[in-house]
Amino acid sequence: MENSTQRKQTNTFAEDVLNGLTDNPKHLSSKYFYDDEGSRLFQEIMKLPEYYLTRSEREIFRNQTDEIYKAFHADKSEFDLIELGAGDGTKTSLLVDYFLKKNTKFRFVPIDISEEALNFLTEKFHKEFPDLDIQTEQGDYFKTLETFKEKSETRKIILFLGSNIGNFSEEQALDFFKHLREVMNDDDLIFIGFDLHKNPKTIINAYDDSQNVTSRFNLNLLKRINLELGADFNTEEFLHYASYHPIERAARSFLISQKEQTVHIKSLNKSFKFKQWEPIFMEVSQKYNLEMIEKLANESGFEIAKNFFDKNHFYTNSLWKVRI
Ligand code: AVI
Repeated sequence: MENSTQRKQTNTFAEDVLNGLTDNPKHLSSKYFYDDEGSRLFQEIMKLPEYYLTRSEREIFRNQTDEIYKAFHADKSEFDLIELGAGDGTKTSLLVDYFLKKNTKFRFVPIDISEEALNFLTEKFHKEFPDLDIQTEQGDYFKTLETFKEKSETRKIILFLGSNIGNFSEEQALDFFKHLREVMNDDDLIFIGFDLHKNPKTIINAYDDSQNVTSRFNLNLLKRINLELGADFNTEEFLHYASYHPIERAARSFLISQKEQTVHIKSLNKSFKFKQWEPIFMEVSQKYNLEMIEKLANESGFEIAKNFFDKNHFYTNSLWKVRI
């Protein structure tokens, strides 16, 4: 999964680590969570009893497949179903299955930075849906969409699921959708998964689970820096700390240095000092209410066609059309 504002993605891992650890306060980018072990840990997170997000979105896809189908296919025209950061495609497969059963004319186009993720997905979907027309696109979301806009007349329905938008700040999210608008045609649609604000205790538990999987997920980025950049982080000396700010509606995670220590990173040829209890900001998981979603849509050139909710109203999949 790729969670950066992709048009600005020019820095390397080493450069971003250097910038993040020399800044005050220190930070690392959650887009680097997903090496092999990080992706495996994220699969584990999605199965946790506390992590309601995946289940809520799956419930929407499972229980409202026909409504989603009708909203996508109201004018009965052919479309490209384009998924940004496709992951393992579990939720999308519920839609694909239903669309095929309805003899819908569509092509599935997953776009991802990771070739490995795309190969895995293609193999899985070929087995499950031998009749599916699938075209994978490896690379930058916007560049790929721009090419599609230039080359193809076919209507696009863009999926951005899993509350991935939550890992952008509100400002980055606005920038992301404005840019997306530029590469969309007037009859294209976008379907976005937003985690909604709710009891703060429910939210905080999702990011501070009782089995400490989220803690391992965060600490794994330090292990990745050790492995790939030759650092000597002792992960036992860092503590995972999650917070939820109910006014900003943002869950944030930090790794806190439990003592004064120095970490050396060989490939940067540099040492970094940590004070006792100094935090490294790791990730934001922004939550939304309906006014925030509407404002975001309006300010980026869209309007809400329909919101789909799970029965708890924990989550919404919001379908946006272009505002003309
Ligand atoms: C991928 N993303 C939407 C997850 C989230 O909920 O922000 C990543 C995650 N971080 C900790 N747990 C899950």
